[in-house]
Amino acid sequence: MRFIWDLCLILQIYIICSSSAQPIISKLDESWWAYKDVVQGSFVPVPSFWGLVNSAWNLCAIGKRQSPIDIETTHMIFDPHLTPLRLNTGGRKMYGTMYNTGKHVSLRPDKTHLVNISGGPLGYSYRLEEVRLHFGSEDALGSEHLLNGQGFPGEVQLIHYNQDLYANYSEAAKSPHGIAVVSIFIKLSENSNAFLNRMLNRDTITRINYKHDAFLLMGLNIADLYPDTIRYITYEGSITIPPCYETSTWILINKPVYVTQMQMHSLRLLSQNEPYKIFLSMSDNTRPAQPLLQRCIRTNINFNKQGRDCPNNRALRPQYRGEPTTAVKRRAQFRWK
Ligand SMILES: *[C@@H]1O[C@H](CO)[C@@H](O)[C@H](O)[C@H]1NC(C)=O
Ligand SMILES: *[C@@H]1O[C@H](CO)[C@@H](O)[C@H](O)[C@H]1NC(C)=O
Repeated sequence: MRFIWDLCLILQIYIICSSSAQPIISKLDESWWAYKDVVQGSFVPVPSFWGLVNSAWNLCAIGKRQSPIDIETTHMIFDPHLTPLRLNTGGRKMYGTMYNTGKHVSLRPDKTHLVNISGGPLGYSYRLEEVRLHFGSEDALGSEHLLNGQGFPGEVQLIHYNQDLYANYSEAAKSPHGIAVVSIFIKLSENSNAFLNRMLNRDTITRINYKHDAFLLMGLNIADLYPDTIRYITYEGSITIPPCYETSTWILINKPVYVTQMQMHSLRLLSQNEPYKIFLSMSDNTRPAQPLLQRCIRTNINFNKQGRDCPNNRALRPQYRGEPTTAVKRRAQFRWK
């Protein structure tokens, strides 16, 4: 099978191959995709091919509500009805296992320590399933979401599933209102975020140098990961890996978290491969920005601009539009920069 694919690659006829070979390809490993071309070795589909190689991944190619996106701040609409997000940890610390999945650094909380979020744009309660890190080989390339065309050194994604409606993550991921992702940009600084410091200090991060490595962390407080702000941006999109299901509510926190230059360097030294295979840096594990099309980007940041009309949002009809005082208007500003 791989041989056939190599042949396709050589002949440069990916699309013809993929459409004729779909029944075979669907049976392949769900992890048979990549972020970037591998110079040596066999063909593995990069983001522009995800939707072409497997019929179950169609949405990656033809979906119209895909993530990530480039957040253009001029397109944001202030929605005064967006309440703060509520984080519920039950006041307890959790433990979690940190993995090198070959594609991401992934922290999975222990199943008995429930952490959930609700409020904000969310109509249900969502349970934390995974904390996932994306990062770049260069400082401007690591985030999946962009802000006015610009990337950040990295992005933390806290992936939650709807626990009111669904039994587990896999069921929720393909179902309406299934997933809520809290996304926080990572920037560089002398001091690092307390939660990320637990994951990325040298003693810890070097335990997961290679694919399938795992390391248990105790006494984690997920609240430490959240920057000190109630401001966010939200839109309806997709999960950013195959099968690209369009079931995610995205909540982008309006303040970054920080890691040190050294910690970023340690991330770049993680391999996508097992120790006995060639070193291949995990960095640049980002899907390119997808078109926004007809979607709205809502925010609870009152940036003192008339929002454009957003058809699905009752809050934005003129009769509902709040009129904050001038003092409040002037104080509101973006905090990323
Ligand atoms: C959310 O998490 C808290 C703390 O773990 C828990 O007590 C609560 O029951 C959870 N909410 C739901 C709806 O499951
Ligand atoms: C998730 O829940 C569904 C429906 O209850 C079940 O069929 C499936 O086996 C579960 N999957 C996992 C991975 O637990």
